Amino acid sequence: MIYVKKNIIHLNTDKTSYIMEIFKGKYLLHLYYGEKTQINHGYEYEDFNSFSPNPDKDDITYSLDTLPQEVSFGQIGDFRSPSVEIEFKDGSKVTNFLYDSYKIYEGKPSNEHLPTSHIGPNESVETIEIKLVDSLKALELYLYYTVFESKDTIAVSKKIVNLGSEEIYLDNLASLSMDFHEFAYDYIHFPGSWVRERDFERCSVTRGTHVVDSKRGSSSHNQNPAMIILDKKADEFSGHVYGFNLIYSGSFKNQIETSSYNQMRFSMGINPYNFRKKVASNSNFHSPEAIVMFSSGGINGLSSISHSFVNDNIIPSNFRNAHRPILINNWEATYFDFNEEKILEIAKASKEFETELFVLDDGWFGIRNSDKSGLGDWFVNKEKLPSGIENIGKKINDLGINFGIWVEPEMVSPDSDLYRKHPDWCFHVDGRNRTEARNQLLLNLSLPEVCDYLYDSLEKIFSTEGISYVKWDYNRNMTEIYSKNIPADMQGEVGFNYYKGLYGLLDRLVTRFPNILFESCSGGGGRFDLGMLKYMPQTWTSDNTDALARLNIQYSTSIFYPVVAMGSHISDVPNHQTGRSVPLKFRADVAMSGNLGLELDSTKIDEKSKVEIKEYLDFYKENREIIQNGAFYRIRSPYDGNITSWMFKGRGEKEGEVLVFIFRGYKKANMPKHRIKIPYLDDESLYLDKDKKCMYSGSELRNYGITIDHSSGDFQSEIIKLKEQ
Ligand code: GLA
Repeated sequence: MIYVKKNIIHLNTDKTSYIMEIFKGKYLLHLYYGEKTQINHGYEYEDFNSFSPNPDKDDITYSLDTLPQEVSFGQIGDFRSPSVEIEFKDGSKVTNFLYDSYKIYEGKPSNEHLPTSHIGPNESVETIEIKLVDSLKALELYLYYTVFESKDTIAVSKKIVNLGSEEIYLDNLASLSMDFHEFAYDYIHFPGSWVRERDFERCSVTRGTHVVDSKRGSSSHNQNPAMIILDKKADEFSGHVYGFNLIYSGSFKNQIETSSYNQMRFSMGINPYNFRKKVASNSNFHSPEAIVMFSSGGINGLSSISHSFVNDNIIPSNFRNAHRPILINNWEATYFDFNEEKILEIAKASKEFETELFVLDDGWFGIRNSDKSGLGDWFVNKEKLPSGIENIGKKINDLGINFGIWVEPEMVSPDSDLYRKHPDWCFHVDGRNRTEARNQLLLNLSLPEVCDYLYDSLEKIFSTEGISYVKWDYNRNMTEIYSKNIPADMQGEVGFNYYKGLYGLLDRLVTRFPNILFESCSGGGGRFDLGMLKYMPQTWTSDNTDALARLNIQYSTSIFYPVVAMGSHISDVPNHQTGRSVPLKFRADVAMSGNLGLELDSTKIDEKSKVEIKEYLDFYKENREIIQNGAFYRIRSPYDGNITSWMFKGRGEKEGEVLVFIFRGYKKANMPKHRIKIPYLDDESLYLDKDKKCMYSGSELRNYGITIDHSSGDFQSEIIKLKEQ
């Protein structure tokens, strides 16, 4: 619910309030965000000193330098980083946006070029649109806040409208900016690299500036737009936790900046690095949408909010709560070295464990026997697959298994027919080296003709009968970001326009193929973000399939993203990325903690393992509803030691069914027993562990816990199934 009383704007969700003040009729202040509250008093300000300038000659009692603001501008006395930066044709950079008016309405604003959150089933939302005006230059700035009441979530974006007679250059437009009154907080971010995505790092906010960003042209393996600010005492289970995420897949920047007066400014948006948007007269620019969440129930509380928001308000509605198939992918089984016979053998052998979907990975198209050629040539390689995709798909379908394929449409290999025909279609600057990564170049998706070529080629392939799944990959980052078709003063928007092109292409494809399940991938989890999830309801979490390493990756990924969105596969040993050999059960239990698949040569599995795998898949199918659509909570972090644990609680028909996963990494000699306390159960209820023939009370599980004995060697895991009586 949104209401404005005596210049104080309240945005209320079920459990939270976001409160702003229209200060002196001119400025928009951030008063409060947190547990549901009503505030009747405006900000009590004080003038600090003459080094904090006063914007109003007639009232020198306040300074923008010290006020907690909701949006900020440079060169008018606030010396912290501004959230809006504009350069005018004369080179000046001074803006003076003052509060003008507000409007409250049902529904949410649309953004024609970018993915945004949608209104979920049986949900209604309210938006407040706050208008600020720079009258000298006839510029309007709109701040949008859409309140998802039952979700404890607010979607925030900004739009600049240029009604002036001259173009302006927008150098920065943060989607979100929020000034906290103090900085006594910690923050959590997710740095990493390829095969080591999303490490969990908790840092103290100290004086100065903390930047979490990507300059890679994608949200990247190296960082993630999702970020937490939390009370020092908050942990997984309790405490105040703020969560922020951005619906955008390109370079982003999150910044925490403390001021000399102990305030803290948090901002999030497109990275101003390499960004400059020319906004012509009578046109506008709308920022990506930022998602803001608050929980007083610790990090797990925040995760519950984020998971249900992603499932209900981000991913395509037709995949919401839909069971995802157990797939087998041939990548680690064959790499590029396969033919039709081999593919059919793998599919046939996987029938023994009753997999549900076969995914033909890289190498089926063009001349693609290694990563040195073929990207861009989206026609089947008849040497490898003489009867074509259609027939191979049909043969796999005849086995009772669905069929899917891999594509990497945004790329081109210099050794490809496409590149020979259109050498200008990739990002490059004439006369300069074209930087290759994995021997490939990036197509310039800001060009409509490139997107049209891709749509036509992919439309043909995806129309092939029997294709029910597509893995969409992206295996490098952006360099030489330049587009010859536009003038010099528009080059700063090429990286952004790339995403406009990509999102437009994806929109056309998912609309044309609403029943295809798309999985996004970028060398694993290099684009695990809300922008891609908007079109593709699941993401390949990491190219690292080592179960021990996956514990960490999946643990931190689950903080913002639902486990059903996380592809996790049982692969062969020794593991191809780490060389480590982990028992099959441990590999299966880690993979079953997400969206289960297999990534191994099913023709080379011994009889005993085959039986075991069938049992795991049967168990997963029996419990898929709980794992994919249940509530998920982390219990013990792999970042804190050798034991990891998490749990799933069934909903609806599965209400009362609980799965607790416990993993122990390396075994120590003379290792003491551990106890695991299981939270989030009903204290008064009784829970039966049928396998162990044990009945526990909820309070016993929460306070006293259960024992893990360390009878096996390295890498021990178990799944405890409890049923409320
Ligand atoms: C990326 C993906 C892998 C596989 C290869 C194929 O690295 O993450 O899963 O599809 O590309 O080239």
